[in-house]
Amino acid sequence: MVYLDSFLLMALVRVISLVLLISTTPALSACECGYSVSGNLYTELLETDFLHLPKITLDTDWRPQDYTVSTTAARASLGKNASLANVVANPLANNDTWIGAGSDGGDGGLQLWVRALEPRSNLVSTAEVSTMREDMLYGSFRAAIKVTDVPGTCTAFFWYFNDTQEIDVELLSRQFNSTSNPVNLVLQSPAAEQAGDDASGTPSFSVIQLPFSPSGEFHEYRFDWTPENVTFFADGQPLKTMAVAVPSSPGHILLSQWSDGNPNWSGGPPTKDSVSTVSYFKAYFNSSETSRQQQWADRCKDLQAPNATCPVPDQTTAPDSNSSTFFFATQPNSTINQTVWSPSQTSDALPSRSMVLVYMPYILTLVIGIIGIVYLVVWLENLD
Ligand SMILES: *[C@@H]1O[C@H](CO)[C@@H](O)[C@H](O)[C@H]1NC(C)=O
Ligand SMILES: *[C@@H]1O[C@H](CO)[C@@H](O)[C@H](O)[C@H]1NC(C)=O
Ligand SMILES: *[C@@H]1O[C@H](CO)[C@@H](O)[C@H](O)[C@H]1NC(C)=O
Repeated sequence: MVYLDSFLLMALVRVISLVLLISTTPALSACECGYSVSGNLYTELLETDFLHLPKITLDTDWRPQDYTVSTTAARASLGKNASLANVVANPLANNDTWIGAGSDGGDGGLQLWVRALEPRSNLVSTAEVSTMREDMLYGSFRAAIKVTDVPGTCTAFFWYFNDTQEIDVELLSRQFNSTSNPVNLVLQSPAAEQAGDDASGTPSFSVIQLPFSPSGEFHEYRFDWTPENVTFFADGQPLKTMAVAVPSSPGHILLSQWSDGNPNWSGGPPTKDSVSTVSYFKAYFNSSETSRQQQWADRCKDLQAPNATCPVPDQTTAPDSNSSTFFFATQPNSTINQTVWSPSQTSDALPSRSMVLVYMPYILTLVIGIIGIVYLVVWLENLD
């Protein structure tokens, strides 16, 4: 009897440790060494789900811009005034939907507005947001954007250090028609500076026809920047690789819609209010900050360990309503020591349904484990 009791006690201990093991194993962290894109490793992450973001100011990753460029400084017929009021969060009502009208009726996402020129004004009212972080040194940067169909603006997704170290994706709405949908890809360079800030004749300027209409729906614009080159993509398809004037300093990301009336570039100003909408932003990058580099060295114990490095999935189609957007931030324990926007900063503190789904396997494991223990205890009592 004593022998049987200790045998059963051991069995009970084993079941409990098994349950504990199963329920804690998935909680081990992943991606602690970083995120890989086309064989390149990046240690940092910044992801923003603008479709479900109620207030841009709650997201510590971004700052709406407020500045004025005078007519002379803009070297164009008009100046521009980036205004906070033109950066509008327009979230979808439901956390489980990924396309549709936001709270103000227009496309859900972060709206960047250019306003029709006020009478007697020589400043176009424009919109721009910038990342808080300015330590981005090489990486893969992705923004899903539905571009305005109002002619006369430039919708820009770019990385900036200074006027000769800059990576630009620029969509000029005046250039769109039923047979031509170009995107302008630029690495600003000393050569462009010497040509009077005109990159168009330099080797790091390229106009590529897109296989879709940028104002028809959301598409992912992306650039992968390594020490060797910059490759631009649209919906995951490579458009162009540039290996001259590759920037080598740390900088930040900007998203904007603007116009200054320059007929050679933005054209316009638009004759009516014009909106471009951003549904998500993702960046996997390296940091120029020694403190961040040290934190990476501390948390990345073994580059070869399973799940230590997470491959970043490619978005290969237009981001659409049928599938949710992949974010590491909504996967369990995949953003250890990264700065991620937390839904608790919003007024809605309840866990969303997707979070419940994320934790469902753990909850199920625990429930099954407890039922198992109860059965074992009942069986033990029946033995006596
Ligand atoms: C990013 O930083 C990591 C850690 O220092 C390094 O192993 C990796 O090669 C860097 N990536 C690029 C593209 O330079
Ligand atoms: C930009 O920075 C680089 C590196 O520091 C420097 O060589 C270049 O002159 C700068 N360009 C401008 C326009 O200041
Ligand atoms: C579209 O734009 C291109 C480039 O400006 C032009 O050559 C073409 O004629 C335009 N097509 C239509 C249908 O307007």
